[in-house]
Amino acid sequence: MPELFSWEFATDPYPAYAWLREHAPVRWTRLPSGVDAWLVTRYADAREALADARLSKNPVHHADEAGARGKTGIPGERGADLMTHLLNIDPPDHTRLRRLVSKAFTPRRVAAFAPRVAELTDRFIDGFAAEGHADLIHAFAFPLPIYAICDLLGVPPEDQDDFRDWAGMMIRHGGGPRGGVARSVKRMRAYLVELIHRKRGDLGDDLISGLIRASDHGEHLTENEAAAMAFILLFAGFETTVNLIGNGMHTLLRHPAQRAALQESLARGEEGLLETAVEELLRFDGPVELATWRYATEPLTIGGQPVAAGDPVLVVLAAADRDPGRFAGPDTVDLARRDNPHLGYGHGIHYCLGAPLARLEARTALATLLTRLPDLRLAAEPEDLRWRGGLIMRGLRTLPVAFTPEP
Ligand code: HEM
Repeated sequence: MPELFSWEFATDPYPAYAWLREHAPVRWTRLPSGVDAWLVTRYADAREALADARLSKNPVHHADEAGARGKTGIPGERGADLMTHLLNIDPPDHTRLRRLVSKAFTPRRVAAFAPRVAELTDRFIDGFAAEGHADLIHAFAFPLPIYAICDLLGVPPEDQDDFRDWAGMMIRHGGGPRGGVARSVKRMRAYLVELIHRKRGDLGDDLISGLIRASDHGEHLTENEAAAMAFILLFAGFETTVNLIGNGMHTLLRHPAQRAALQESLARGEEGLLETAVEELLRFDGPVELATWRYATEPLTIGGQPVAAGDPVLVVLAAADRDPGRFAGPDTVDLARRDNPHLGYGHGIHYCLGAPLARLEARTALATLLTRLPDLRLAAEPEDLRWRGGLIMRGLRTLPVAFTPEP
């Protein structure tokens, strides 16, 4: 049995996941936080579990609810209620809230946002293009999604640097409920509540105004629900996208033939390979290693393994997406892969709401980097790169690169 959650594991978890898929596909595992949970690693089991209505997202169903709250990163302080968001609730509340937010966060809104994402992408590349070297995480992958989501939500430009600082605090220290992180969450909440209040009297065409306007059979979001929604959009859409850009670029830099094919296709003005490439990068080394927590509301079996009511279940998306039982040559990067129903955005009713935005950002970011800085190369030995050892997310701390400076 390979060691889980070690330093080697943080660098490359895939050999351990291969072992689990083969020998213990549904395994009761002690997590670094001290909480035990079932890890589900095979594709078929993972997909089924993600869509199983007997697996609740609400932590009240954890057999050890009080203990779990502190250890799962769900702040104990529920008064704030930023935590009663889509990822922590079940139908019928989930259905209602998701329908309301879907009315505001439409594919059309995201498509209309494309020029702004392109502008932001160029602005951040301008910041380091003349230098010949950069840390792509710090200078690019980190700021792009936070300013993008702030713009989309309608956070005024003069307040966006505060969001960058709060988000930086959360990403550096993980989603834990303590100290500076808790302070950042509190400040963000106070800010969002105040902003929603302000916008109510002066609706614009931003997403927060859309959330306030959205109604369903005469039902509106309460101010608290709107604040929790804005918070989850920021929170779910931020570190994930940082890591999609970071992990994706890292994979491209380490697979020169694949990267060259992508650059050639971009030079011909084609979009097709870019589209399949972003899906493949997500499958091969996606930002979300484990889907968020689920709790059995009744006894059930997953992949033949009995699971008791109250047991937490963690679906390991990163393991499922390398399952040779579903993907041909799963450990090979094939940017042109067509048969690619990966679970990188989840599956079922909690399927990523922000997937169209994530795709837009990742496609724009990768295409622009490869086009403007065509000889971009890794400026560190691969084994010297440090990975952030979170539980849910997988991403690099830094990604040093070198390139011919832009004149
Ligand atoms: C849900 C992945 C970007 C908003 C999810 C889930 C996954 C995921 C795996 C399901 C979790 C589960 O079932 O436990 C990703 C990845 C992203 C990304 C890989 C980027 C590369 C975004 C963005 C936004 C967003 C940009 C919004 C701005 C959400 C929301 C949910 C969600 C609101 C909860 C949906 C629900 O519970 O109904 N995401 N996400 N995500 N994501 Fe994303």
